[in-house]
Amino acid sequence: MRNVILIGFMGSGKSTIGKILAQQLKLNWLDMDIEIEQSEGITIKEIFEQKGEEYFRQIETLHLKKQLNKDNNVISTGGGVVLSEENRSILKEIGTVVFLHANSEQIIENLKDDEQRPLLREDNVEDKIRKLLDQREANYLNAANIIIQTTGKSIENVVEEIISIL
Ligand code: S3P
Repeated sequence: MRNVILIGFMGSGKSTIGKILAQQLKLNWLDMDIEIEQSEGITIKEIFEQKGEEYFRQIETLHLKKQLNKDNNVISTGGGVVLSEENRSILKEIGTVVFLHANSEQIIENLKDDEQRPLLREDNVEDKIRKLLDQREANYLNAANIIIQTTGKSIENVVEEIISIL
């Protein structure tokens, strides 16, 4: 089966949903942030702190390219993977791109106690989330083949919906 790639904002459930989706479709599950942490030997937070966001974005693109010409994977991506035009076109080549769309209230709720995400280390996290969502919305829509509204739905429902559309 062609790869299924989950995109969406931080806290939209890409990892949780990806893992279950892979089990149900009997595909492998691959989480890009975990892959990056394993290959770099430090956490995403540490990569941002020690090497900067630009370095992280380069590594992210390298890991994405590794998936070209592979199949049978469900791939959970990092929320910023859609930022570059290059990544957006690689995503489409790799497989079917599913955008998990949660509304800002849901995302704020999911991320309010987060300590790990470097982009949210700000005094006013809510403002930062709204700002990033505004900046990125068009990129998610542009990269997606399928859009799934997740707000208020259970994980199981979202997984079922994705499977019914694929
Ligand atoms: C990022 C999202 C994170 C991680 C990094 C940057 C972003 O992944 O890749 O902190 O730019 O939105 P999650 O979406 O899994 O939190």
